[in-house]
Order: sequence, then C-alpha cells, then structure tokens
Amino acid sequence: MKTRAAVLWDRNKDWSVEEIELDPPKEGEVLVAIGGSGLCHSDEHVVTGDLPTGLPVVGGHEGAGIIEEVGPGVTGLAPGDRVIFSFVPSCGQCRACASGMGSICELGMYMREGRQISDHTARHHARGQDLGLMCLLGTFAERTVVHQASCVKVEDDLPADVACLLGCGVITGWGSVAYAGEARVGDVVVVVGIGGIGINAVQAAVALGAEYVVAVDPVAFKRNKALEFGASHAVASSQEAAELVTELTRGRMAQVCVNTMGVGEGAQIGASLGLVGKRGRVVVTNLHPAAETQVTMSALDLTTYEKQVRGSLFGSSNPRADIPRMLELYRSGKLKLEELVTRTYSLDEVNVGYDDMRNGRNLRGVITF
Ligand SMILES: NC(=O)c1ccc[n+]([C@@H]2O[C@H](COP(=O)([O-])OP(=O)(O)OC[C@H]3O[C@@H](n4cnc5c(N)ncnc54)[C@H](O)[C@@H]3O)[C@@H](O)[C@H]2O)c1
Ligand SMILES: [Zn+2]
Ligand SMILES: [Zn+2]
Repeated sequence: MKTRAAVLWDRNKDWSVEEIELDPPKEGEVLVAIGGSGLCHSDEHVVTGDLPTGLPVVGGHEGAGIIEEVGPGVTGLAPGDRVIFSFVPSCGQCRACASGMGSICELGMYMREGRQISDHTARHHARGQDLGLMCLLGTFAERTVVHQASCVKVEDDLPADVACLLGCGVITGWGSVAYAGEARVGDVVVVVGIGGIGINAVQAAVALGAEYVVAVDPVAFKRNKALEFGASHAVASSQEAAELVTELTRGRMAQVCVNTMGVGEGAQIGASLGLVGKRGRVVVTNLHPAAETQVTMSALDLTTYEKQVRGSLFGSSNPRADIPRMLELYRSGKLKLEELVTRTYSLDEVNVGYDDMRNGRNLRGVITF
C-alpha cells in the first residue's frame, strides 16, 4: 500500500515528507495506523549523525496507534488493538527480558540496522530504495509495519497523541531517576536539561518524595515548566546548581544527578559528578555524539567518595510492565501527560516542530494524525 512518511535522505537535511510504498506485515509483524508521534531529540541525533544509522531512514520512535492488520505468527495482538511502541523492542523472552532488564532486550541488536527483526529486510520503500526505520519503528508516518516485540497493548481510554509519550520520554525520564538513579524519599535530585526527557525525570523525583528537585536549563521557559511540574528550584547552569546544592545540603550534595541535555558533552559528566555527594549517582541518559570519546571528571571521586556514573537506556525500565504501570499512575492523577505537550503538528510540519525543539520552544512537540 501507499502511505506518507518523513524520510531522512542525507545528514543535516530536512525530513522529506513523501509518499512511500509499504509492504504487508510478514511473520511476527503488524501494520499500525499511527495516532501520535512525539518529537524526541534522538531523531535529531540521526539528522546530525551523532547517532550513526544507515540512510535513508523513516524517522520517529515515540509513538502509539491502532493495529490494522497482523501477519502470520502474531500472538496477543489483533486488528483494532491500541498499542504504544516500545522504542527498544522488548520480546519478554530473551535472557535480558526474563531477567527484568527489558530496556536492553537482546532484539535491540537490530536497532542500528533498522530492518525488520523477522528477516532483516525492509517493508518500507521509496524512490526505488529500501528505507530503514528509526528504532525499528518509523513513527513519523501515517502507517508503519513493525515487529510484535515493539508493541505494548494498552487500553483505549487515552488518545494516541498523548499515549505516544509513554513510548519514550515519560518512561525514559521517570526510569532514569527511579530505576537507574535509584532515588528514594528524602533524596536531593538534580536534572540537567528540561526537555521531554528531563521534565519526566522531574516528575519522578517529585513523586518519589525528593527533598529538593533542582532543574537546570539555560532556557527560562523550561525552568518555569520545571517549577510547574514540582521542581523546588530551577537554575540556568550547572555552576549555579553547584552553588545552590552546596548551600541547600550544607555541602553533602545530591544523591542523584540525571543528564538529559539535548546533546551530551564530555565535560558535563565531571560537572554532574561535582553535583552529587558520597555514593551519588550520575545517570547519563542524554546521548553523546558517537564521535565523542573524551569525558572529563575526577576519577579520584569515584573511589574516595564512591561516586558512580551510570548509563541508562529507556529509563532502565521494563517496558511491558512499566508502560501499563505508568498509565495507571496517569489515571490516578500522579503522572501528568497532557501538560507535557506544548504544541501539536501535522506530519507535514515535522521540520517546524524540530525547529521549535532546537530553539527551546517546546517541552514536547507531538505530531498528530
Ligand atoms: N537514554 C535514552 O534511552 C534516551 C531516550 C530518549 C532520549 N534520549 C536523549 O536524551 C536527551 C534529551 O532528549 P529530549 O528529547 O528531552 O531533548 P530536548 O531537546 O527536548 O531537551 C533538551 C534540553 O536540554 C537543555 N540544555 C541544553 N544544553 C544544556 C546545558 N548545558 N545545561 C542544561 N540544559 C541544557 C535544552 O535547553 C533543552 O531544554 C537527548 O540527548 C536524547 O537523544 C535518551
Ligand atoms: Zn526518544
Ligand atoms: Zn527480550
């Protein structure tokens, strides 16, 4: 069938919204009509090449929609079902999934290739070429074909343009604090970078009962949003945060600092390590450019203060458990979703949306269909 999608043909170029050819689902695959797709910074890393993937690629990985057709061998999903995509496939059966580490499911090994998990070929084609899929999904499209391991079935009480946020930003930000950061009641939590990920790190820290939640962002609008979401303080730089946290904690510093800047910087690891105290955790959630291999930090602090630097993918969550669980928190009023969306766009406006993201105008932009 024909559908419309945003395709990236060259680095540092606009997304091209065009008609593409979509094959029917094969073994273990489903055809999904997308209802909403968030504009996460990770797709921007594909544009710049900081996240090296093959091109051309259909963008988008924070999505939700309705199943229209299932291929042979699909179990537990049927036409009409609502799904939220897990941006890392989460099969539920591999050793990682079975050990409660669904965010690093072994099927993640196929993400960089961007071809279908089932047979490593493409269902998406345009201009006579096969198209890769961002995170094996390609949610900047009216329809897509994905593997069932990428789909988490949910109830139908939430519109897809809000539900899509659980496909990346909400779970990633929340889990970075709750799981990777192991924040507990009474902790001091710093969040560096208040975008679609960082704001959910703020939400988690507030919900977990942190003593202070310090948001750091150079953009005033973001700092105001962080305060609206319950942060106790919002400052413009890590230097300001260091002075503030020193004063608030009488030098003991924070237990957790989550790095959620748009583009990670090697020097920020050291700056964030300076914000945490003894046995404090720096969670590296933002993506650093693949070409960047140097970080600056006091390695002596790792030993003498038992500080830790931890990477975290998809909030170190278990998507099959955590997506439904976070929906429950939303229903009971403990998680904000609608408030995360600053502006919605049509698929044709995807480049406008990314321009707004680059200029700090959006907490989260969402494409609606
Ligand atoms: N680990 C994962 O699983 C995962 C998942 C999704 C996104 N990400 C990554 O997380 C990062 C954040 O994504 P997003 O969609 O929230 O991005 P975003 O662009 O919406 O937000 C980034 C924020 O960082 C702020 N910022 C920039 N430089 C800063 C600095 N020096 N100090 C403090 N704040 C600064 C910006 O003003 C902006 O508000 C990106 O690198 C993205 O690729 C990681
Ligand atoms: Zn994302
Ligand atoms: Zn798995």
